[in-house]
Amino acid sequence: MARHPDHELFREVFGRFATGVAVITSYGPAGSGGMTANALCSLSLDPLLALVCIENRARTLPIVRESGRFAVSILSSAQEHLAGVFASKLPEGDKLEGVQHHLEHGMPIIDGALAWAACELRDLIAGGDHTIAIGEVVAMGLGGGEPLLWYLGRYHAWKGR
Ligand SMILES: Cc1cc2nc3c(=O)[nH]c(=O)nc-3n(C[C@H](O)[C@H](O)[C@H](O)COP(=O)(O)O)c2cc1C
Repeated sequence: MARHPDHELFREVFGRFATGVAVITSYGPAGSGGMTANALCSLSLDPLLALVCIENRARTLPIVRESGRFAVSILSSAQEHLAGVFASKLPEGDKLEGVQHHLEHGMPIIDGALAWAACELRDLIAGGDHTIAIGEVVAMGLGGGEPLLWYLGRYHAWKGR
């Protein structure tokens, strides 16, 4: 049965779209930043483009804008605690401190991630209260483990084959 579209129903509908969980990081003149994100997808194969939707108030957004690059670290189920760290409002520069990471093309990649991609920013497009950041992938890598999942507003561990 159709219901009148509102914020609550919007959350319920898209909450049924199970996703992985990633951390978007960047490192620029003002320091480092990072945020948990699931509004992430691959966009193009030629060229290799990925996009992430970043809330306009997220402190990571100006860092991405100023540095002109961002990295995606896709979290494993063993890294749920990191999703909490990067979803928090800890002082922005503190988030990466204490989290083991290394730089690829000047972008912070979280150690132990299931997979990662380093992107040069190609476009920022307004999308309501979010901004769509489109990046060209300049480096990628694979790690090990099982994915961390986000479904119905909660984390889940992979129970697949
Ligand atoms: C599972 C999960 C997924 C999230 N996905 C996004 C997202 O795709 N885009 C976004 O802007 N915020 C997303 N958030 C919220 C941000 O992580 C949160 O606002 C964070 O505090 C932003 O950090 P910053 O202000 O340091 O940039 C998500 C949070 C969680 C827990």
